[in-house]
Amino acid sequence: MEISKIGVIGAGQMGNGIAHVMALAGYEVRLSDISQDALDKAVALIARNLDRQVSREKISGEVRDTALGRISTTLEMADIGQTDLVIEAATEQETVKQKIFDSLGPHLLPHTILTSNTSSISITRLASRTDRPEKFLGFHFMNPVPLMQLVELIRGIATDRETYETCLKVVERLGKTAASAEDFPAFIVNRILVPMINEAVYTLYEGVGNVKSIDMAMKLGANHPMGPLELADFIGLDTCLAIMNVLHEGLADTKYRPCPLLTKYVEAGWLGRKTKRGFYDYRGEEPVPTR
Ligand SMILES: NC(=O)c1ccc[n+]([C@@H]2O[C@H](COP(=O)([O-])OP(=O)(O)OC[C@H]3O[C@@H](n4cnc5c(N)ncnc54)[C@H](O)[C@@H]3O)[C@@H](O)[C@H]2O)c1
Repeated sequence: MEISKIGVIGAGQMGNGIAHVMALAGYEVRLSDISQDALDKAVALIARNLDRQVSREKISGEVRDTALGRISTTLEMADIGQTDLVIEAATEQETVKQKIFDSLGPHLLPHTILTSNTSSISITRLASRTDRPEKFLGFHFMNPVPLMQLVELIRGIATDRETYETCLKVVERLGKTAASAEDFPAFIVNRILVPMINEAVYTLYEGVGNVKSIDMAMKLGANHPMGPLELADFIGLDTCLAIMNVLHEGLADTKYRPCPLLTKYVEAGWLGRKTKRGFYDYRGEEPVPTR
């Protein structure tokens, strides 16, 4: 099946990046949100990010203008339904995503493929409420979308081969690489990455090292480009905690118990870079460790 029109639902951090890479790859993109303000901000941000690519001579001014011209915005679900592929990238709450797929249902074309960019919610469960679980897939981009090479493709129990292969071709056209994952809590990347971050928080909690020594140890000792606590602040401590809870509940294994210190930071509202404080304090010129 040929994909030419793509509907992206949710114009936040991930949705704007997805619209950006899809438009650059030649797809016609319809970007939607519940908030006109979010849509306006997303288009302005995509324009700025494309400008940066022009100034770094990664793309020409003409390519930038054509890509931007391929993106339209809408507040109407009906517009999103009339596409070949829908990528849902709204807030990470199962009830929000369920409502989106429920309201999209009556507007879909018979062949429209439905996907979700969820980091942790069961693809099989989201698919089961739609009229087409066989045409439903997890399409999991990494943040920031224009820079990260990997996309995880997650098959639900009912997903058919044609849907998977059609989406695999889209990933290839983006110049990205797909990792195929089965539908188990947090899939591959977050199943491995987030428990490592949680273990780094335990190492801090138990006083084995302070923030600086833990991050330096993993950068210089394991050749990681960022320390685990620095990375946690970048992802968002609330997101890290939510993923640990999904692993703990979904796999019922105590090895996934969230570190109490991670919970404490989230309860304090110290969520990392987005709130200017987490394992580091970002309110000054340089990040300062908070422990
Ligand atoms: N942030 C990450 O690092 C990351 C990485 C991979 C996947 N994800 C996943 O991507 C999805 C989006 O995450 P984000 O970081 O972009 O969140 P975000 O908070 O930046 O953006 C979410 C957007 O969804 C919109 N929205 C909420 N309800 C809506 C509805 N009913 N219809 C349309 N739009 C609606 C909000 O207005 C907001 O603009 C989540 O499922 C998340 O788990 C996030």
